[in-house]
Amino acid sequence: MDRPLYALLGAPVHHSLSPALQNAAIDALEIDAVYVALWTWEDLVGPLMRSLPGGNVTVPHKRAAAAALDHPSEDVRATGACNVFWWDESRGLCGDNTDAGAFRTAAEALLKAELTGCRVLLLGAGGAARAVVHACCRAGVDRVEILNRTRARAEELVADVGAPGAVRVLEGGEGRSEEAYDLVVNATSLGLDPSDPLPVKSEAVQARALLDLVYGRDETPLVRAARAAGIEAADGRLMLLEQAILSFRRWFDRDPPREVMLRVVRLGE
Ligand SMILES: NC(=O)c1ccc[n+]([C@@H]2O[C@H](COP(=O)([O-])OP(=O)(O)OC[C@H]3O[C@@H](n4cnc5c(N)ncnc54)[C@H](OP(=O)(O)O)[C@@H]3O)[C@@H](O)[C@H]2O)c1
Repeated sequence: MDRPLYALLGAPVHHSLSPALQNAAIDALEIDAVYVALWTWEDLVGPLMRSLPGGNVTVPHKRAAAAALDHPSEDVRATGACNVFWWDESRGLCGDNTDAGAFRTAAEALLKAELTGCRVLLLGAGGAARAVVHACCRAGVDRVEILNRTRARAEELVADVGAPGAVRVLEGGEGRSEEAYDLVVNATSLGLDPSDPLPVKSEAVQARALLDLVYGRDETPLVRAARAAGIEAADGRLMLLEQAILSFRRWFDRDPPREVMLRVVRLGE
């Protein structure tokens, strides 16, 4: 096969809908390219990025990808995480973080309102959580409270993102039942494997809505638990779709067919 190869670099990648999404759009527009998912070790992330015309990066390599770039976007510099890259003849290896914009679109669709002024509980402090904090600060939320298994990593996130007083780290535990949040965001990788425990007990959290960045073939366990507790909830498919559209534009300089991609992620059925 001599078609230009675009790739998703991560570990694991078997669950990802990105190849189906991107190949459906590539085929619909008859572009000479193919998109594959590559299970990748961290020390191969930089060399692979340099050997491809473009691609995406997922768990757990977004920080390594940011470090490998010649030309990081403003959002990569702000978050320290890169999820889309492409080769540019004059600038070298370029990268962006489209998770932040895609998260905001998905969160506001779920809330049916702007993020501005919202109280947000964020579970996790990895690459995706950095994008969430960045998007929340840019949107002017009232506050973001972060719960993470490794507290030091959450503190590092707050220091790195340079977030003002609106962002703080919570003590460990199960979320704070006395607090009411507009939005709970799961940015941990819990839920990728069906045997994972829930990242938070939904009955311990008072919230208007819950956005699980994780997605699978069916509703995630956290989304199911939240809906059972009467909380409006969505999984990560809309965010995935939005970042896929932004990635596609970076590589091919044209809009992908949204309707084709919507069918792949089975949204709006
Ligand atoms: N829908 C989308 O478009 C989209 C976009 C981006 C990401 N995501 C999803 O978001 C999730 C996180 O991605 P990421 O890039 O931020 O990954 P990451 O950088 O590897 O961070 C993983 C996070 O999960 C936590 N975690 C992992 N295992 C845990 C466990 N057993 N118990 C408690 N916490 C645990 C980590 O806590 P520690 O700090 O303690 O290790 C960390 O906060 C993934 O599922 C990814 O697929 C979805």
